[in-house]
Amino acid sequence: MAYALVKQLHLVAVFLSWALFFVRGLWMIGDSPRLGARWVRVAPHVNDTVLLLAALYLASFYGAQAWIVAKVVALVAYILIGMVALRRGPTKAARVGAWVTAQLVFLYIVAVAVTKNPLPFAA
Ligand code: HEM
Repeated sequence: MAYALVKQLHLVAVFLSWALFFVRGLWMIGDSPRLGARWVRVAPHVNDTVLLLAALYLASFYGAQAWIVAKVVALVAYILIGMVALRRGPTKAARVGAWVTAQLVFLYIVAVAVTKNPLPFAA
């Protein structure tokens, strides 16, 4: 019961995480001042904390299985590449490239979650 609820929470946070990242990327591309708004800087951290806490609870039922480890490693990559996309990239081309790459990593994480396989696209 608790597991099912936390899994729902994880999924809502997953969707919000992607949606917030997507929108912030569009604002980055359009040089929008909204990217610097206070709620835009705070909300993703709050949501990503919920996502991770729910993930850790769910993962405690599985232990260090390969697909869980793959998700954690890919999550770190998603965060780092996301920082390049929204802040650190030296040029807009670099930031846009990182924005697209981070979303591909995100897609990989979803595929790992659904298949419970660290190589979800392998035949
Ligand atoms: C951006 C990061 C993440 C995304 C996009 C993501 C995505 C998902 C998705 C789509 C599911 C549902 C899978 C299904 O039922 O078909 C799921 C479940 C789950 N995730 Fe994540 N996840 C993320 C981070 C993590 C991390 C870091 C961990 C481990 C610490 C984790 C552990 C789990 C577990 C254990 C489940 C439950 C699997 C089940 O009961 O079927 N997730 N995740």
